[in-house]
Parts: sequence; C-alpha cells; structure tokens
Amino acid sequence: MSLPPGFLDELRTRTSISQVVGRKVIWDMRKSNQGKGDMWAPCPFHQEKSASFHVDDRKGYYYCFGCHAKGDALSFIRETENVGFMEAVEILAREAGMTMPARDPKAQEKSDRRAQLAEVMEATVQHYRLMLSTAAGQGARDYLAGRKLDEHAQNRFEIGFAPDQRQGLFQALTAKGFTPDLIVEAGVCAKPDDGGAPYDRFRGRIIFPIRDGRGRAISLGGRAMDPNARAKYLNGPETPLFDKGRSLYNHGPAREACGKDAPLVVCEGYMDVIAMVEAGFGGAVAPLGTAVTEDQLRLMWRIHDEPIIALDGDTAGTRAALRVIDLALPLLEAGKALRFAVMPAGLDPDDLIKAQGREAMEKLLSEAKPMVSLLWQREIEGKVFDSPERRAALDKSLRAAIKRIADPSIRSHYGEEIKRLRWDLFGTGQRGSAGGGQGGQRRSDFKPGARGKGRFTPPANALPETRASLLGATGDDVSEHLRAAMILGICAIHPALIAPFEAQLEAVDLRDPTHDRLRHLILAHAVTPPEQIAEKLRAQAGDDLEKLLALPHLRSAPPIVKADDIELARMCLAEELAKLATARAMRDEIADAMEDLEGLADEGVTWRLAQAATLRHQAERSKLEDNSDTGEDRAALSAQLQAMIDGQIWRKKH
Ligand code: UTP
Ligand code: MN
Repeated sequence: MSLPPGFLDELRTRTSISQVVGRKVIWDMRKSNQGKGDMWAPCPFHQEKSASFHVDDRKGYYYCFGCHAKGDALSFIRETENVGFMEAVEILAREAGMTMPARDPKAQEKSDRRAQLAEVMEATVQHYRLMLSTAAGQGARDYLAGRKLDEHAQNRFEIGFAPDQRQGLFQALTAKGFTPDLIVEAGVCAKPDDGGAPYDRFRGRIIFPIRDGRGRAISLGGRAMDPNARAKYLNGPETPLFDKGRSLYNHGPAREACGKDAPLVVCEGYMDVIAMVEAGFGGAVAPLGTAVTEDQLRLMWRIHDEPIIALDGDTAGTRAALRVIDLALPLLEAGKALRFAVMPAGLDPDDLIKAQGREAMEKLLSEAKPMVSLLWQREIEGKVFDSPERRAALDKSLRAAIKRIADPSIRSHYGEEIKRLRWDLFGTGQRGSAGGGQGGQRRSDFKPGARGKGRFTPPANALPETRASLLGATGDDVSEHLRAAMILGICAIHPALIAPFEAQLEAVDLRDPTHDRLRHLILAHAVTPPEQIAEKLRAQAGDDLEKLLALPHLRSAPPIVKADDIELARMCLAEELAKLATARAMRDEIADAMEDLEGLADEGVTWRLAQAATLRHQAERSKLEDNSDTGEDRAALSAQLQAMIDGQIWRKKH
C-alpha cells in the first residue's frame, strides 16, 4: 500500500514523540526541559543508569549518545514494538485519530489476489492437517513419533501429511471452489509440461506450513519420509505470497517470544526450529532452504538486536557462518550485532537437544561468540605468522574486512577489538605507553627476532599507479587528503610520536593507497628506536615520502619546519588526527543521511547535501591554509545541515 502525499507529514505533526517514547521510558526530570520539548531518559535500547537518551519533541527525533540509536516516532515504534513500517504507521495513525487511506484500485486488486492466494494456502494447510489424522496418515504419525515430535508440537506447528496421491489436494481444493489457476499460482500444485491437469506438488511428505510475520500461510515445506526420496526437503516455489529470501520459518511466534526477552536463534531447518521451541527456546527461526540473505538479516535485526546464529560444527557450517559475516559487515549499525553458537561437530540443534537436553543448548547459546572473534578466527586459522610479510598481509585483510563496516563508530570498535586480539597474538612487551594492547595477554613464546625490522612491512606489489601523484584521483576528499598528508608528514619528521599515536594512526581512515602504504611503513617503526627511524623510513619510502614532505602546505607548516619542537608536533598531530576522524565521520554521516532519505529524497536534497559538503570542504581548506581553527566551520555546517533537516528539504515543495 502506498500512502498519499502529505499523510506522513500530517501524522508526524499530530504525533508527539515525547508522548510515544514516554510510554517506554522514565524521564530524567532534572535533566529534561519539558517547556522546550527537550527530554532525557535512560536509553530504552541499551542497558544504562544514566540518561543519555535524548528526545527533541519539536524536531520529532530521538538520539542516544550512548548507543547512537536514532530516529523518529515511527522508527521508535518499529524498534520497540517489533513491527514493520506500515504497521507502525497504522499504530500511530490510530492514536492520532487519522484514518488510514483507502488503497488505489490497482493495489487493491493485487491485494485481493494475494488474499485469495492466502485462502488457498490456508485451505491447503487444513487439508494436510486432516490427512495426518486419517488412516492413510498412520505411517506419517509413526514417523513423527519416531522423531519425538509429539502431538503438542504437531498442533503448535500445524504439521500435516501429504499422501502419495497425484491429485488429492487438487481435487479437495477445486471442490471448495478454488480455480485451477489460483491453486497453481499458490504453488501447491503444478501444471505438467504436456498441458494436462495440475498435480499435487507434495506427495508422500510431512508438511510444515510456513506463515509470515502476521500469521498468514504463505507456503509449505515438505520432508520426505522415504530416505531414498530425490530431495529430503521440498519447499514451495516463489509466489506472490512467498519470497524465500524475505521469509523466516516461525517468524511471528519468534518475534513474540523475543519481545518477551527470548534470544533470537537462527537454525538451519524446520526440525531444528521445532525442537528448539519445544525445548523452551521460543525465539527460533530458520531460513527456508537457502543461505541466509541480506533481507533475512534485516528482518532478524528488526526482531532482535543480537541474533544468535546456530551453526553446525562442521566445515559447511563454518562456511555458512563466514558467508553471514560477509553479508552482515556492511549492514552493521549501532546496537545491531550477531553472535555465533557453534554446535558440536555433526550435531544440529535438534540432535543436540535430543542427545544432551536443553541445558546443553542453553550453555552453547550463553557461550555464543561475537562476530568479531569469528572474523578474527577466519583470518588466523591455519596460518602461521612467522614473518613480517605475513603479518602485514593479515593486517591488510583485517583492515579490509573492517573497512566494509559502514557505521563509523562500530568500525572503530571493531578496530579496537581486532587490535587487542592482535596484541594477544603478536604482543611485543616493549611498547610505548599510549598505544593499544590494553590488558591484552602477551604470548610468552614471542620471538624477539621477528621485531625491529618492522611488523608491518608492506606488501611487495606497491601499487605503482598511485605513485604518480599524491593528489591524484584517489576518490578522497581534497581537504581530508591534505590532513592525511600532514599527519604522515609529522610522523616522518617526529618519529618519537609514532609509538604513542600508534592506535590512532592505525585507526585513521586513509583512502589514498599511497597514504596507506606510508602509514604501513611508519607503523612498522613503532618499536624501532626513534633515532634510527628517519633514515630507514627515507630509504623505504623514497619518492613517496619526499613528494609528501614537499607539498606546499607541509613545506612551510610549523610542525614540519620545527623539527626540534616535539611538543608542538604532538599537539598538531593530535589535532589533525581528531579533525580528520571527525571529517570522515561527518562525511559518512551525510552518506548515511542520504541513504536514510532514499525513496523520500528527490534530486533536490541530493544536490543540497552535496552543496553543503562542498561548502564545508572549501571552508576547511582555506582554514587549513591559514592554519586557524575549523571548529567554527564545523559548527556552521552542522547548523546548516540541521536547518535542512528541520526544513525537511527532501519533501517536494508543491
Ligand atoms: P538438513 O539436511 O540439515 O536437514 O537441512 P535437517 O534440518 O537436519 O532435517 P532432518 O533432521 O534430517 O529432518 C536443513 C534445511 O535445509 C533445507 C530445509 O529447509 C531443511 O530444513 N533443505 C534440506 C532443503 O531445502 N532441501 C533438502 O533436500 C535438504
Ligand atoms: Mn536434523
């Protein structure tokens, strides 16, 4: 259904976000200013005692300074009630006393067709339920008993049975008045190639009805009872009702259970879900005969902030986990994560519960590992890091993985965690004070010989195409590029700063491959005595470093010229690092904003946001040249952005 123009505007105007949020939080009245619509509370999206959750009633937005959850009244309802966009609109509209708009005729027709298909599906479910209780269902009942799927579970999951008949279902459905076309479109019967009468798709199988989040029957899964059957499981085809990649088995009940604090556990198949639910883990779901998709991940995150992926302990299971990680990395945002529970080899959740009971499952779930540790495991497993080159390669691939995380704050947390893990593995025991390695245990068998020459020797293939020009078409923003150069330049001139700034140098997002290469070289000297670094660096970096230091804005910059003034250099370096990080984060923020607005945005907003970005860059560049503070520009820009958001410039003005 599409909403008429202005409907959402009207809804937002009529809705008080502090009222909506107020039902779920207890305001901190000392911090809040009710008159100004400026409200604070402990965040409902993460555990905390302080009040970092801010609601701006006039702007209609909330933002949590702790977990960065943000959005408007609609997204608040979606998150807290576990519902989709349209459902949230309906809830708010009801409260605001607005009537949901009538559907346009085409959409009406389509939804009528879908309603008819759903009726076919419902009738099919009931038919197969009935078949299970007939004499013909004896074998099926025995099979289910053998798999310890008792009557309670059968009823709960509406298990059915499709006898081995060519047209049993087809006849039952046509007798009820459904047309052959509709029956075929629903996917429960298929038309033979020779144009004959449709035949039943599921024959001689246990039937698992599949319902969508709202409880509507959308498809079926069927398990062969005959171990020699061509396919152990058969799922219904894609239909207007059933989009495999966007559906989850047990979606609705799991959502409800998760609303009552059950963990969301993603299993492989029907039987696993049933065993889990019967064992008391109500938040179990499974994809439907395919690998987990991006849509399914989003769906899961709408149900729970931290789904647990339950995996077979075998290689296929590990591979599946890695696929999920690859899928999830770019989608991660604050408050959304994944965990992985690794099953004992050869057992799926169904087997495990049957063999070792629910306690064993409970224990596995409680030990589920965060994604970052699987990511780490993937990179180090079966590899030996006995040379600087190999470690550099590890760093490179880890950095590449982390770079795929779109959310800047999560990216930096992942960076920190990976860094910690890396210190556990390679820790040197001789580091400057400020670097990472906080609390990380150091391996006792570390070989000092591997140190010194550089743990981060860059890969041999040094990207010649990027050497041509430091300011080449790197896709980097010009002022940010200048800052990055300044940072590297200061490090080269003041090598003593490398160790104390190592963590930040490593975390900073360098988009020019030459910069990245220089960074590698520089970081390689975090443990080299400072007095030896300059010479080695020059030898290793050659042209690239010389060109960098010859850049106009570096050549005359105080921290570069005053090679003796380390305190000045330290301050400049800290400042440039902070500013670059802010600039990068802000640009990502704009990109995020644009993405959020997708669909709502017209070219106007894209243009204006781009314009805002350009203005800021121009301002920053000139400031950089006269070396004064850019704080004002940042303030001006955020004011400008805020004004655009307030003015809702993405809405078409009529
Ligand atoms: P498994 O082969 O792991 O089966 O398939 P299972 O869940 O352990 O089932 P039982 O215990 O042998 O009955 C896991 C999931 O993969 C899909 C189904 O969705 C199944 O639940 N699958 C499997 C198919 O779609 N087709 C197949 O032939 C096999
Ligand atoms: Mn199984």
